[in-house]
Amino acid sequence: MNTTTDNWHEVETTARRILGDEIVAHIDQCRQTSEPQSHLIGVLHKIQAQHGYLAEAHLDAVAQLMQIPAAKVAGVASFYHYYRLQPRGRFLINICLGTACYVKGADRVAQKLIEELGIQFGETSTDGVFTLEGSRCLGTCGLAPVLMIDNEVHAQVTPDQVPVILEKYLSRVRRESHASSGPTGSLTPLRRLP
Ligand code: FES
Repeated sequence: MNTTTDNWHEVETTARRILGDEIVAHIDQCRQTSEPQSHLIGVLHKIQAQHGYLAEAHLDAVAQLMQIPAAKVAGVASFYHYYRLQPRGRFLINICLGTACYVKGADRVAQKLIEELGIQFGETSTDGVFTLEGSRCLGTCGLAPVLMIDNEVHAQVTPDQVPVILEKYLSRVRRESHASSGPTGSLTPLRRLP
């Protein structure tokens, strides 16, 4: 594929700064194939794995390097729920919405999480503590409904337990904040969940 433009060197230099050498090299390989655009989903996965999320600058750099319209790259990134468009919070909440969990009330637990955190799926709370995501099955159907926070499994969760569970993690952040600020330091006030 002929991708050179008048400012190609500048495009590539900027992309290296934003995406890193490894991803730029990967995109370069994709561009050598007969269907470069078919590699877009894989490229976005690679960027998210390395950077934690897909920033606007990442998407713009991919559009330029792969010579794909920026609107199309942004459209693909926002269409698939597994792409994160914001930085990940301190804790990743993953609620299972698979069949076994759903019939045991996972939808009500999910709704309670949305209310308590004030965010939708794929978003991060304004204090940066929690990112909320949903999954099809976490492989622990016997414990339904299940939610995971980072690697910790919470089994048979009810909506009433949600504030208690969240508070446990908020307390952890407060303790970390206190430890890092020292005995005379001030705690960063965390947004108390409504
Ligand atoms: S359906 Fe929820 S863990 Fe399997």
